[in-house]
Amino acid sequence: MSPSHPTELSGYAEKLIRGRRATRAFRPDPVPEETLRAVFALAGAAPSSSNTQPWQVEVVSGALRDRLADALQAAHAEQRTTVDFPYRDDMYSTAQQRRRAAFGTALYGALGIGRNDHAARAAFDAESLRFYDAPHVAFLFAAGDAGARLAADVGIYAQTLLLAMTAYGLGSCPQGLLSFYAGTVRGELGLDRGKLLVGISFGYADESAPVNHITTDRAALDATTTFRCQ
Ligand SMILES: Cc1cc2nc3c(=O)[nH]c(=O)nc-3n(C[C@H](O)[C@H](O)[C@H](O)COP(=O)(O)O)c2cc1C
Repeated sequence: MSPSHPTELSGYAEKLIRGRRATRAFRPDPVPEETLRAVFALAGAAPSSSNTQPWQVEVVSGALRDRLADALQAAHAEQRTTVDFPYRDDMYSTAQQRRRAAFGTALYGALGIGRNDHAARAAFDAESLRFYDAPHVAFLFAAGDAGARLAADVGIYAQTLLLAMTAYGLGSCPQGLLSFYAGTVRGELGLDRGKLLVGISFGYADESAPVNHITTDRAALDATTTFRCQ
């Protein structure tokens, strides 16, 4: 569908926004440092409340990335979770639960994991703490002793970063699961402040992996958006 009043950017925006998708298998090649700097500089153009830019971004690669993956898997095995932004499974509405289930069917279907194979699903989640084998991971913290409101700014930064990565040919996967181990991440990075919202694994996508070709649909426009004029 073409927009009724396209501008010079509309076609690019359609391609960029719809072209991004979660990547869960990566090639081992690291991203060159100039590309890393260009992508994160572009993401820094994200808007924020009163231009406060309350994000603290930690990009982790190399041996530190490997140590962190080990530490996360150890924390997971010992059930040592630390959550900075509270989570409840029952926070989802019925419609949201239905979308979540449909996504699970697509993801685990692509992996050949059966609907009721809880052990295989748990093993996949545990393995995902190795960042889906991506060579890099970016941790997005709300800086300082941030309240929940600042999470909106960090979320907007996150999407800007994901689009910047797409524009530079990088695959990415935001992983909320990583935020359940905020204490472990801070410990390994030597941080004593900041609240962890999400980790984003990224690198070059392994296009041959079926898991990178699952499709996720979206709710109809009218199900989420109301246009009011009186
Ligand atoms: C805040 C956030 C947290 C997410 N957490 C995870 C995660 O822990 N593990 C994972 O594999 N994908 C995670 N995802 C990716 C979503 O599953 C994915 O974005 C969604 O299913 C839509 O698919 P798409 O990104 O391919 O369009 C997360 C995405 C967001 C925005």
